[in-house]
Amino acid sequence: MNGESTKILTVEGGVPLEGHVRVNGSKNAALPILCATLLAEGTSTIRNVPELRDVVYMRQILADLGVENHRTSDGSLTFETRDPEPFSVSHELAWKMRASVCALGPLVAKRKRACVPYPGGCYFGVRPINLHLKGLQALGADIRIRDGHVEVTADRLKGARVYLGGPYGSTVLGTANVLMAASVASGTTVIEHAACEPEIIDLAGFLNAMGARVSGAGSPRMIIEGVSELQATNYTVIPDRIEAGTLMIAAAMTNGNVVVEDACVDHLFAVIDTLQDMGVDITANESTIRVKGNSSPKSVDITTLAYPGFPTDLQAQMMAYLAFGNGFSVVTERVYPDRFGHIAEFDRMGANIRREGPTAIITGVPRLSGAPVKASDLRASASLILAGLVAEGKTEIRDIEHLDRGYERIEERLCRLGARICRVDAGKRESRYEDYRPSSRIVAYT
Ligand code: EPU
Repeated sequence: MNGESTKILTVEGGVPLEGHVRVNGSKNAALPILCATLLAEGTSTIRNVPELRDVVYMRQILADLGVENHRTSDGSLTFETRDPEPFSVSHELAWKMRASVCALGPLVAKRKRACVPYPGGCYFGVRPINLHLKGLQALGADIRIRDGHVEVTADRLKGARVYLGGPYGSTVLGTANVLMAASVASGTTVIEHAACEPEIIDLAGFLNAMGARVSGAGSPRMIIEGVSELQATNYTVIPDRIEAGTLMIAAAMTNGNVVVEDACVDHLFAVIDTLQDMGVDITANESTIRVKGNSSPKSVDITTLAYPGFPTDLQAQMMAYLAFGNGFSVVTERVYPDRFGHIAEFDRMGANIRREGPTAIITGVPRLSGAPVKASDLRASASLILAGLVAEGKTEIRDIEHLDRGYERIEERLCRLGARICRVDAGKRESRYEDYRPSSRIVAYT
């Protein structure tokens, strides 16, 4: 990690993006699916899994849990349980990402015991796991919190009716955990207020391909009839809707003309609709989206919500766009009320954004100005790249280690569309910080 944290990205703004770009497999679909291989007998092959740091961490967690895994020459991943005894996830790996919590459900269901530290991942306020635990408890698991670990035990889980609504709506990974556990519990489980995200539909698809009996995925009521055993299978992960949305916003705000390929248009309606309201020209068929940009967007009000609402994972990127738009926009964060670490960094670039609790009021400015900035989390990192793409001059983004957790070689792919982004060693750039000091201030100190 030390090596990574010394790298920074430099972005030179002002180039409209043009060309074709392919969307990778979904991080947030792949991670629970990888975890679900713990439930299977035999060798599963999973295709379209992006090459991300979070995937590396999850593969390591699974290897520690006795699931041998490899990336094959065609890019697929294979998983086979060789040792069914381990039941603990290390602190080191659990702290690296939120999705480590997904080991709880499959481990207790298959191995009767799980010991998983409270998970890490992006920090933007409190991120409890009480609903995960409530769900597993409803299936009969015994839960203890000790030394920062969650210990869950059960001889055989038993189907139950489980309500997973919380103060901020449904829970994606909480639904995934209960779904995985219930698929091999005895009897029928009904999840009320289940998350409806496409990533949950994908997980249910994978479980069903292994022989599970899950219905209602994509609706708030899921019904799972437990089976005694799941068999390994081959499966292809859905495209990443957040990566697709990030690329679409990049194309739109740079006044570009980009074709985003291998996307799933069905998963992107909230984003397409919002961009169209802003005056962006979008044509889409099932899997291809052409975005013709508009560098003078109309203001819009956005509220993030669980799917099919506007995704919280695109809030920061959209704010970058609105920051240099026209008029006033209001962005309200209903999933993570504190997910606003990017605002202070946009301010350094000349944006005019005021935060009031879970709401940001954005007064569009005619131009942003390159600056040294820090990335507070994964999506904030992406939003700073986007802001840098339209800013005058150079933007230097520090603390980019989160970026590689969620975007595969993003700067290379944007560069192929014409962007000017470099990943460089921070030490070598330090002196260049002088570049950003107004000359009048330098004179004043001499
Ligand atoms: N919540 C609770 N109790 C719980 C769980 C969640 O109150 O037990 C609250 C959360 O604090 C939040 C809301 O419910 O206010 C929704 O959280 P959720 O559980 O749905 O989030 P998650 O499953 O931990 C996944 C994605 C996030 C994405 C959210 C919302 C993965 C690995 N992570 O997190 O993705 O923002 O759903 O869509 O799937 C990202 O990719 O950058 C990212 C953060």
